Amino acid sequence: MLKWAIFGSGSGTNCQAIIDAIEAGTLDAEIKCILSDVADAAILERARKHNIPAIHFDCAPFKTKLDGEAEQKVLQTLEEHDVDFIALAGFMRMVKDGLLNAYQGRIINIHPSLLPSFPGLDGGKQAFDYGVKITGCTVHFVDAGVDTGAIINQKIISIENDDTLETMMKKLHAQEHIAYPEALQWIAEGRIHSDGRR
Ligand code: GAR
Repeated sequence: MLKWAIFGSGSGTNCQAIIDAIEAGTLDAEIKCILSDVADAAILERARKHNIPAIHFDCAPFKTKLDGEAEQKVLQTLEEHDVDFIALAGFMRMVKDGLLNAYQGRIINIHPSLLPSFPGLDGGKQAFDYGVKITGCTVHFVDAGVDTGAIINQKIISIENDDTLETMMKKLHAQEHIAYPEALQWIAEGRIHSDGRR
């Protein structure tokens, strides 16, 4: 069974969906540890509730990336916990070369838009503000670019005239919570390769 680490900076509802899928028996995966750059992030609380090691790491002096000493510490933690794959779930920092090289083709991310449209920060809001009528979420492999890695899974939602950003995001999150565990299961079954080929 593949051994995962999950990284997040916030509420961790996607992480919860992964934990729930494992507990429901629909996902073959083991979560070895959950890491956050935010000491009081709810995602760490979710880890503790499920007796999964919850680890905070300080990214200073960097504000937007995981690099330098912090990256080295994270690599050491991943080694100690015998981690094979990494799922970024609302992790709001750029992953840099040290981690990318150590886990080449083994880091995945979920993004709140239909990539390649609306990469970067606030993908959901970008799509809503643009006025698209269909949007969704994307699970993809992580490479050195911003949300440019090979696509694993996508789900769509439609944006109706009476939708607000809040109602749209609620529909979007519901689809994310299906798409992310599904993508992990496809990887577990060897049904998807790191270039996105099935
Ligand atoms: C999710 O909507 C995810 O797509 C987004 O952050 C949210 C995290 O929610 N990720 C990004 O924007 C990455 N650039 P969660 O903490 O409740 O899973």
